[in-house]
Amino acid sequence: MIDPSNDLNQLVRASVRAELGDPDAAIEVSVHRSEHADYQADVALALARQLRRSPRDVAVAIAARLTSGEVLKSAVVSGPGFINLTCRSDYLAAQLGRMHHDMRLGVERAVIPETVVVDYSSPNLAKEMHVGHLRSTIIGDCLARALEYLGHDVRRQNHIGDWGTPFGMLIEQMLDEGITTGGGDVNSLSAFYRAARLKFDGGAGFADRARRRVVLLQQGDPITLKLWRQLIDVTTAYIDALYARLRVKLSHQDMAGESRYNPQLEALVDELEHLGLAHSSESAICVFPPGFFGRDGMPLPLIVRKQDGGFGYAATDLAALKYRVDRLGANRILYVVGAPQSQHFAMVFETARLAGWVPSGVRLEHVAFGSVLGQDGKVLKTRAGEAVSLTALVEEAVDRAKGIAGRGAPGLTESERARIAEMVGVGSVKYSDLANDRIRDYLFSWDRMLSFDGNTAPYLMYAHARIRSILRKAQAGHEELALAAAQITIHAPAERALALELLEFPSTLVRLGETLQPHRLCQYLFQVATAFTRFYEACPVLNVEATTRASRLVLCSLTARVLACGMDLIGIEAPEQM
Ligand code: ARG
Repeated sequence: MIDPSNDLNQLVRASVRAELGDPDAAIEVSVHRSEHADYQADVALALARQLRRSPRDVAVAIAARLTSGEVLKSAVVSGPGFINLTCRSDYLAAQLGRMHHDMRLGVERAVIPETVVVDYSSPNLAKEMHVGHLRSTIIGDCLARALEYLGHDVRRQNHIGDWGTPFGMLIEQMLDEGITTGGGDVNSLSAFYRAARLKFDGGAGFADRARRRVVLLQQGDPITLKLWRQLIDVTTAYIDALYARLRVKLSHQDMAGESRYNPQLEALVDELEHLGLAHSSESAICVFPPGFFGRDGMPLPLIVRKQDGGFGYAATDLAALKYRVDRLGANRILYVVGAPQSQHFAMVFETARLAGWVPSGVRLEHVAFGSVLGQDGKVLKTRAGEAVSLTALVEEAVDRAKGIAGRGAPGLTESERARIAEMVGVGSVKYSDLANDRIRDYLFSWDRMLSFDGNTAPYLMYAHARIRSILRKAQAGHEELALAAAQITIHAPAERALALELLEFPSTLVRLGETLQPHRLCQYLFQVATAFTRFYEACPVLNVEATTRASRLVLCSLTARVLACGMDLIGIEAPEQM
């Protein structure tokens, strides 16, 4: 793994141990990037352990040991607990050289790969997907890509809502209108859904029929199942098209809807009862996991079987969890679902643990996220007050991107421009979502997401296209081979700053795999692009003597590769020109 902070951490620890005369001392040291030097080591805790000399004296002695090797040029004590570290330029150059010759840009595959289930997107079928599902789809896809790149065995699971009350309602509506949706599209389906909903809310007769229909569905009545299948087919065709357009890597194989777990639910509830975990309460069957209380101070129920005998969302989630652990062999399960479901997941996890369904070492994580807000600060809605459809959103983004696509490359054909507009439009919607700390709500703003300034998709795309154009120019001078063998040298401060940023790529990805915070990867890529801009302003690349030119071209090439790889993990494209 290329990771200067880790190299430095090892060095500092060795030096502390040597100074303490204890080769096995347990020492806590942390090393991070710093404004005062390249890095800063925090050794306060390590120093606090030794008492007979003044911490400052010890720090000075430790620092003195640090500069004897090949890594550090200087190590300066700052206050009693910190050491400012400046790397030797040839160390940085050597690390960059390794990165340059590594297909994986210095990112090693996990030594012990995990099987990670990522539950994401998970829309409710028979309804058009709305912007609320956007975040799950985009965040989940980024995490799945990143974990895969880190060498884990990723199992995508699209836990679509394809079961339950809404389907009873829709099937009754189909029967009432004497239609099948065979040739319908999802827009007419939305209208169809609204009509059914009105009837459901308006009259007990229809609502009762709909409930009975759900029971028929869950019992496997053939005619009901046939109509249900038709509904599912129309909507899956629609979401497939949308995933393709969003470049989301979810396929039919990843579809694992609620309906799949129906056959297991009966036995699952029995098991919970036998374990003494589930009890009837107000004629429903509930688990009361300890530690969960309602506003009234009463224990909160997790309802596994409803009064009418039907099974609900919680039972399905428990069955899905078992399936993922037992059958998929999950070591880690990520649920990329909005923050309002936090309590649901906490209760499901606790119930599963109490039931003994979660082997020790298996991690269950609710990867929660906030809402998308409109300019009025409320959850994004259309003028008519309805949830904004995802298709409409993507259409508008691409339409708006037409205005900026190709502005840096005048010679493009009409179809090339259209292609770039698609890339920029889709990329901007995705990037603006990921660039925000997922746990917070964020304000949806066309102007901001399509701007060339700041931490945006167009900025990164443009930076990438510009570097690729520099490399194309160099190639016209037939320097491809020279590039492979180029000696990297780091002299100018802007070269050094760029080098330090590039070398953070592997550790940034490793951290993403743990913290599951895509906005940090976005922030990192933005810093790389910014460091490149400064470098390119300060350091001529094409018009300098040959060895410097070759070295700087490697920096350009590495920057383009880091940006392209990072953008790919985020799920946006890195254009050649724009
Ligand atoms: N379909 C659900 C919804 O739209 C999300 C499902 C999330 N995944 C899960 N395992 N519960 O609210």
